[in-house]
Amino acid sequence: MDRNKYLYINTIGCQMNVYDSDRIATLLHPLGYRRTDTPGRADLVVVNTCAIREKAEQKAFSFLGRLAELKRKRPEMIIAVGGCVAQQEGRHILTRAPCLDLVFGTGAIGRLPRMVARVESRRCRIVDVETGAEIDEFEYPQGGAGEGAVSRFVTIMQGCDNFCTYCVVPYVRGREMSRRPEEIVQEIEGLVRSGVREVTLLGQNVNSYGKKEGWCAFSELLARINAVPGLARIRFTTSHPKDLSEDLMTAFRDLDKLCNHIHLPVQSGSDAVLDRMNRRYTRAAYLSKVERLRRCRPDIAITSDIIVGFPGEGRADFEATLDLIRTVEYDSLFAFKYSDRPNAPAARFSDAVSEAEKSDRLRKVLDLQESYTLRKHRALIGTTACVLVDGPSKRQEQGETGAGIQWSGRAADNKIVNFTALKEDLSPPPDLTGRQVRVDIEDAFLHSLGGKMIVREPSRVKGEKIYAA
Ligand code: SAH
Ligand code: SF4
Ligand code: F3S
Repeated sequence: MDRNKYLYINTIGCQMNVYDSDRIATLLHPLGYRRTDTPGRADLVVVNTCAIREKAEQKAFSFLGRLAELKRKRPEMIIAVGGCVAQQEGRHILTRAPCLDLVFGTGAIGRLPRMVARVESRRCRIVDVETGAEIDEFEYPQGGAGEGAVSRFVTIMQGCDNFCTYCVVPYVRGREMSRRPEEIVQEIEGLVRSGVREVTLLGQNVNSYGKKEGWCAFSELLARINAVPGLARIRFTTSHPKDLSEDLMTAFRDLDKLCNHIHLPVQSGSDAVLDRMNRRYTRAAYLSKVERLRRCRPDIAITSDIIVGFPGEGRADFEATLDLIRTVEYDSLFAFKYSDRPNAPAARFSDAVSEAEKSDRLRKVLDLQESYTLRKHRALIGTTACVLVDGPSKRQEQGETGAGIQWSGRAADNKIVNFTALKEDLSPPPDLTGRQVRVDIEDAFLHSLGGKMIVREPSRVKGEKIYAA
């Protein structure tokens, strides 16, 4: 093995990129690369980019600008750019960012070690944005990067075939392809062996998992994962409303490890806008699925994405979106100003909405949602939440706490819970990282809940060791 070399990865974008960055680190490990948090110290910098909105793209280029300066001081530093902007721009990116040594697309991650080795020995520039018809099989060496994590992402499918008219993903991630169920279960078993307690399954449209390939249905995959011993929780994202099946709704009722949270992006409350977005569901169909979901799992938390200012979105369309938010009463929302993507058809649609109007609409959506989020959080004061502990809270790490130790984790419905924990004799509790604990909720904020637990003897609930509050 070579001497230790340092790898810095800047991950921009969605969970798929977070997962890919971990794969990149794991694949480069045998070449002698260890991760560092300091770009200035790195021998190799990888920028894993996102093309979903113009802002995300700008973030990548401004970081590349900073790297160019670092490279002037340390010319031996290798700079690589991967992810969705790399896939979209291909070799053009070399002209825009002359400091680059390597450009690799979203289907080229498996070939990265070979490319890096070539750049190291020959100092040549390489571009690989080839995409195959076969899934880039994941070869995820067990353990590897990110050891010690309680929760991990697992990509179950790549690409997207939905072609929503605003979206770049089908162009930069290619056609939809699903991994074999056995490979996924094996990967999760490996993660559990290395201490992981929760997995989030990733796909742009998990409901169509395995359909093309003839693997099992998504609900069946969930049932198989539910049977993995030692795993405490399963989450997934994203579920396209048009394909949300009855099977999946009943899985929320039947599978004990499946968390009571679904991210079900609606994008707009107006049928005319949904049609021009090519979402292929109506407002009424969406609302009816929400109702059925709540019947299957009354405590389910529902979150969503909203785009404001899609071309042609008139005042009445926007009011319909606000009205839908009031009807559903989401637990939380991500809202975005529509951003033209050169590859996507909506960039050529007429009746663009002005930037000022988009900002105004975004503010209105966020304000409205804040009132629901706060109301829902306040209603939880006085209840007990089952929290999977990620570790000491940030404040704790910075040593700013008062009495008791501050921990942080997530309730099953995905809400962040920060809490203090003390033993009955007021001595400090054991390390709670990776444990499920019961926390009395006492405070409600916009982005988190606050609470307290008294550590007593462990009790057994549903076969799972839960520390009683
Ligand atoms: N596959 C997921 C979405 C992935 S992209 C789904 O269909 O639900 C995440 C979110 O980014 C989308 O839900 C959408 O709200 C937003 N988004 C995508 N393209 C956008 C664009 N051009 N402008 C603004 N927001 C966009
Ligand atoms: Fe984009 Fe639509 Fe695919 Fe989601 S379903 S990734 S929004 S094209
Ligand atoms: Fe961005 Fe690519 Fe994800 S465009 S949102 S990183 S799939």
